Amino acid sequence: MSDVIAKRQTAEVASTPRVGVTVQTANQAADALGHKMQVEDFSLYYGAFKAISGINLQIVEGRITAFIGPSGCGKSTLLRSLNRMNDLIPSVRTDGRVLLDSTNIYDPRVDVVELRRHVGMVFQRPNPFPKSIFDNVAFGLRRLKLSKSELEDRVQESLRRAALWDDVKDRLKTPATGLSGGQQQRLCIARAIAPEPEVVLMDEPCSALDPISTLKIEELMMDLRGRYTIVIVTHNMQQAARASDYTAFFMMNEQRSGEMVEYGPTGTIFTNPQDKRTEDYITGRFG
Ligand SMILES: Nc1ncnc2c1ncn2[C@@H]1O[C@H](COP(=O)(O)OP(=O)(O)OP(=O)(O)O)[C@@H](O)[C@H]1O
Ligand SMILES: [Mg+2]
Repeated sequence: MSDVIAKRQTAEVASTPRVGVTVQTANQAADALGHKMQVEDFSLYYGAFKAISGINLQIVEGRITAFIGPSGCGKSTLLRSLNRMNDLIPSVRTDGRVLLDSTNIYDPRVDVVELRRHVGMVFQRPNPFPKSIFDNVAFGLRRLKLSKSELEDRVQESLRRAALWDDVKDRLKTPATGLSGGQQQRLCIARAIAPEPEVVLMDEPCSALDPISTLKIEELMMDLRGRYTIVIVTHNMQQAARASDYTAFFMMNEQRSGEMVEYGPTGTIFTNPQDKRTEDYITGRFG
C-alpha cells in the first residue's frame, strides 16, 4: 500500500501511465469482480450538515454508471468525492472509504494531484481555459515532457476520441472560447481524457447543451466506454436510460442527508425497480 502511494508520488505517467493502479490490478482483478471503484460506508459533512450518508456502491470498470435523484440529494457531492474534489472546501469532513482499485483514496498519504490524473472530471458548464484549442488539450500533458511531435500526436488523438478533430483541425491555434457550447464541452472531454485517466467523472455535462450536442456527447460516452470507466450525474431520465449501463438512485432522508435508495443495471432500475420510491421518481411522480 505505502509502496503504491510512494510510486504515485514519484512516477512519471508517460512511462507508466497506469502507475500504482496497474501494479495492483493484476492481483485484485479476481476478487474485485471488475469493480474499478468501491465506495464503502461513505458519509460527507459540510460543517455540521451531513450531506451524504452511509453510501455503499461499486463502480464497474469500463462501464457507464449514472447517478440520478432529486435536486440536493448529494449526487454532485458523491461524484466530487470520487476524486477528492471536495477537499477544496474547508468545512468538509468524511467518514468511510473510497477505493480506486485497492487504494483508499482518502488515505492521507495519497497524492491528490496524482489521484486526479487517474480520476478526471468534466463539469456542468464547459470551462475551457482562455487559451488556444491545442493548449487546452495539451494542458495536462505538458509535464510529461513529450517531444513536439509526440505532443501533437497526443492532442490529435484526444481530439479524435472526443469526436472534435474534424471540427477544429484547421484552427487549433485559435482561442477555445470561440467554439460553440457543445464543441467546448467536447473540448473539455478531450482535455480530461488526454492524460489517460482511468475514470472520468461528469457532472450533468449536457445540461447547458442543445439536444443535438447532447446526443453527440452521449455517442462520445458510448465510444469511450470500455476504455474508460465513466460516472455521470444527470437529471435527464432518457439520458440515464439510453447512455448508462448501471444506475444509482439517491434521495434525501428525513435529516436531508442523501442516501442511495437503489442501484443496479440500468435496464432493471428503469423497468423493474425494487423500491417504490425509485419507481415514483423514474415515472416522474416526484422530484
Ligand atoms: N460547498 C457546500 N457547502 C455547504 N453545503 C453544500 C455545499 N455543496 C453542497 N451543499 C449541500 O449539500 C447537499 C447536496 O448538494 P449536491 O450539490 O451534492 O446535490 P445534487 O444532488 O448534486 O443537487 P442538484 O441536482 O441540484 O445538482 C445540498 O443540501 C447542498 O445545499
Ligand atoms: Mg449537482
